[in-house]
Amino acid sequence: MARLVTGDALEEDNFEISIRPDSIDEYIGQAELKENLNIFMKAAKMRGEALDHVLLYGPPGLGKTTMAYIIANEMGGNIKTTSGPAIEKSGDLAAVLSTLEPGDVLFIDEIHRIPRFIEEILYSAMEDFKLDIIVGADSTSRNITIDLPPFTLVGATTRAGDLTGPLRDRFGIVSKLNFYTEEELKQIVLRTSRVLKSPITEEAAYELARRSRGTPRVANRLFKRVRDFALVMGDGNIDINITKVALEKLKVDKFGLDATDYNLLNSIIDKFNGGPVGIDALASSIGEEASTIEDVYEPYLLQNGFLKRTSRGRMVTDKAYKYLKKEKQDTLF
Ligand SMILES: Nc1ncnc2c1ncn2[C@@H]1O[C@H](COP(=O)(O)OP(=O)(O)O)[C@@H](O)[C@H]1O
Ligand SMILES: [Mg+2]
Repeated sequence: MARLVTGDALEEDNFEISIRPDSIDEYIGQAELKENLNIFMKAAKMRGEALDHVLLYGPPGLGKTTMAYIIANEMGGNIKTTSGPAIEKSGDLAAVLSTLEPGDVLFIDEIHRIPRFIEEILYSAMEDFKLDIIVGADSTSRNITIDLPPFTLVGATTRAGDLTGPLRDRFGIVSKLNFYTEEELKQIVLRTSRVLKSPITEEAAYELARRSRGTPRVANRLFKRVRDFALVMGDGNIDINITKVALEKLKVDKFGLDATDYNLLNSIIDKFNGGPVGIDALASSIGEEASTIEDVYEPYLLQNGFLKRTSRGRMVTDKAYKYLKKEKQDTLF
């Protein structure tokens, strides 16, 4: 079964698209980002210019793609989307750039994965709205420059550190998305309930919020599952009792930790005596990719003090020992 509490987009399902807020006022939380964007968007409109390029970074499921669509809506442009892994040749990027119209948003997801040699094409596109390409082959090849309309590049990444300096510097607006508070997640759950016309009590919404790892995508996914339990086992209304039963059955604990998190923390304790352990050794011990641990599992465990990162690797904390009811073993040295 696919992991329920992962912030990762498993597939761009219709469910998710149907509950996506499409104006900035409906976007809950991330107050600082919203406030800044509102000002920059207003200023750009007053000047009749495209909004400066925007880089959004942070763990999966926090609303980066949603914000890209909102920016396009608010600015009254179309959105063209692509992703780092989809751009393999310079022609792939040139093709999407050449479809842009004035004021459009070009959304590049996982922008850190664009090959370096293609990145350079982006520099002049972002800075001067010019597309420099080479046409023809060998002796007949020549450089041509095509004018692009003013557009806004919105880049999203889970790993801002993997972006090259020159690319990063070309974004006028750089913003980190933070984990959401329980109150914000509760508002998101209540909003989803209204959109889907599936009633939920405040108490149940709060319970879902608490277990959502600070992540809207997880909150919505839990909501969807609990809604099924309410329909089959009850009258369709989601209350605290049905929510608790459902979460128990889904094996999501009171911190939103699931079997993978337990596996990760237990491995560090049992196999590496609590750490420090290097990311690669840890990854192979639980059969996951190092990058998946870093991007998807670890941020929440770090944020909530179950795990800490040291120069020598990952260590579990006293909080983790206590929570997992494990004894700390004294080392021999
Ligand atoms: N601030 C928010 N307010 C309301 N819903 C949100 C918010 N951020 C994200 N969501 C919901 O969470 C889901 C995942 O968001 P998404 O933008 O796809 O995350 P990311 O691109 O960062 O992985 C979306 O379906 C959206 O409905
Ligand atoms: Mg996304």
